[in-house]
Formats: sequence, structure tokens, C-alpha cells
Amino acid sequence: IKNIAVFTSGGDAPGMNAGIRAVVRACVYYKKNIFGVYRGYEGMIDNDIVKLDARSVSNIIQRGGTILKSARSEEFKTKEGRKKAYENLKSRDIDALIAIGGNGTFTGLHYFGQEYDIPTICLPGTIDNDLPGMDYTIGYDTATNTAVEAIDKIRDTALSHNRLFFIEVMGRHSGYIALNSGIAGGAVAIMMPEDSMTVDELLVKLDAGAEKNKKSSLVVVAEGGQEGTVWEIAEQVKKKAPYYDTKVTILGHLQRGGAPSYFDRVLAGRLGVGAVEALLDGKRDVMIGIKDNKLVFIDFEQIDNKRHEVDPEAVKLAKILAI
Ligand code: F6P
Repeated sequence: IKNIAVFTSGGDAPGMNAGIRAVVRACVYYKKNIFGVYRGYEGMIDNDIVKLDARSVSNIIQRGGTILKSARSEEFKTKEGRKKAYENLKSRDIDALIAIGGNGTFTGLHYFGQEYDIPTICLPGTIDNDLPGMDYTIGYDTATNTAVEAIDKIRDTALSHNRLFFIEVMGRHSGYIALNSGIAGGAVAIMMPEDSMTVDELLVKLDAGAEKNKKSSLVVVAEGGQEGTVWEIAEQVKKKAPYYDTKVTILGHLQRGGAPSYFDRVLAGRLGVGAVEALLDGKRDVMIGIKDNKLVFIDFEQIDNKRHEVDPEAVKLAKILAI
């Protein structure tokens, strides 16, 4: 392997820049040429590719987003799109790929690597923490801290007005951000795909709290896996329990931005260097991760359509703490 290309794809996540920096600097360290592809698979198809060096990634370790930009590409799902992408890589003699992204990114990379026999490795970059086989994805820690900061602020106003707040956090199919921001933010209940709760069950909890003189409450709701939107859930509560002054806040994309936490920067650094070393060692078609503080390499079959289960202990903890 002489010429490696790095790119970010799918939803951006804080720490992706630290990951790009680590990949670039490891390539320089091991005397390999390194290229950056803009806008993920879209840029590969459009030949939006530049040569990078150690200085191209100065002053980005602390920045959210991704300097290489990101996209979700429909064209790459077509044979013609992938052919164009391969020809653009070939014209620069690029002979290995490192992607930073989530499930969709790894899926594209897996099939592309098989179709064109090019070595690939994927770094887990997504705030959702929904990839099995590893402890944390890049961006999850920062996003959860951002959610906790927002929940704390909502708590101030909830308390001042004796209000019930529903706070929706991100997580397309995963309750990780909801569960841990809910625990850290002191939520009375957490609604998430892994531990479903009906509105009636929620009301039993809320009423029990009110009886014990609880004046305000925060309910954290994961965006994915609910029966209905957070607005619909709040509407049902308003109908069934009009005595609560009910409000809704959707945190949305603010969870995707901001400076990465120390944790995400170190994680991205370890995974970026680990990915380059693994490629040079002959590994291919794997997602690199960290489990129990050790680097691990996860095959596509272990990730494809599989879930990263939340810890049942943490689900129980949330319930005990919310009494
Ligand atoms: O996968 C990360 C994520 O932020 C999910 O939590 C969310 O459902 C989705 O991306 C939003 O995607 P987009 O930014 O394309 O609307």
C-alpha cells in the first residue's frame, strides 16, 4: 500500500476532524501518501479529491464537523456510480481507503471493497453509538455531553414554572444518548426503543412523583422507536392529564456540532492511527473499534443489521435514580 485516501460519510459527528488528523499523520509517519476525498462517496464520484500532508490537518483537532465535509450518497448505491468512483481513485493510484462514518458508510465500503478488490477500513463516526462490537463511537460522548448541558438549562426553567418537559434527543434507532443523558440530567423517565413505555405507564410515574410533592419533571425521549412523535406523546399527556403544564423541546442537530470532548479526541486518535497500522498489517474490510480499552476489528457480518444493545444495568439504574 502506497496511497491511502480518507473520507467522512453519513451524519457528521464531533471528533471526525480528530480522526482525519490521526489518519493523515499516521500516513506521514509511515511514509505513505495520503489523499482526502470531499463529501464522502459523492466526492469520490465527482473526483473531488486532494493530496494532504501533516500541515493540512493543523488546528482541526478541536473543531466539530468535518473539514472533508460529508454526504449521504444515492449515486454510490448504483453500479455506475461506484465505477466512476473507482476510476477516479485509480487515476491517482489510490490503493486503500479509510472511511469515517456509521452503518451506512461501512455497508458502502464493504461492497465497494469486494467489487473492486481494494483494501478498506472504517472508523466508527456517529453520535448514535449504535455499532455493535465496540464500546463507543466517535462523537457519542460529545453529543451526550451537549444533551446534558441542554437538559440542565431546561431544568432551570422547568423548576421556575413547575412544568413538565419532554426533551427529544437524537438516536435514529438507538437509545444510547437518551439513556445516558437522561441518567446524567436526572430525568424522571426515559422513553427509548430498547425500553418502551406507554403514555399510561408514564402517567403512573409522573403522578407518583406529583404525590410526593414533585413540582417539575423532565422526560427524555429518544427520537427513534416511539409510538408517535414527541409532540403526539405530549398531546396525549395534555389530554389525559391536563393538570400538568406540558412543554416540548427538540434538541435536534445542535447535538451534532461543537468541539469534541477529550474522550472523543483520544478515541479518534487511537482509531485513526490503529486503522493505518492495521491496513499496513494486511487487515481489510473491517470496522475498527475499542472494546474494554483494546483495539478490536469487527467484520461486516457482525455489524450488518445488528444492534448495539444498551446496558440493562444502566436501564435499571435510571429507574432507581428517578424514584
Ligand atoms: O445518525 C446520526 C443522526 O444524527 C441520527 O441521530 C439522526 O436520526 C440522523 O443522523 C439525522 O440525519 P440528518 O442529519 O441527515 O437529518
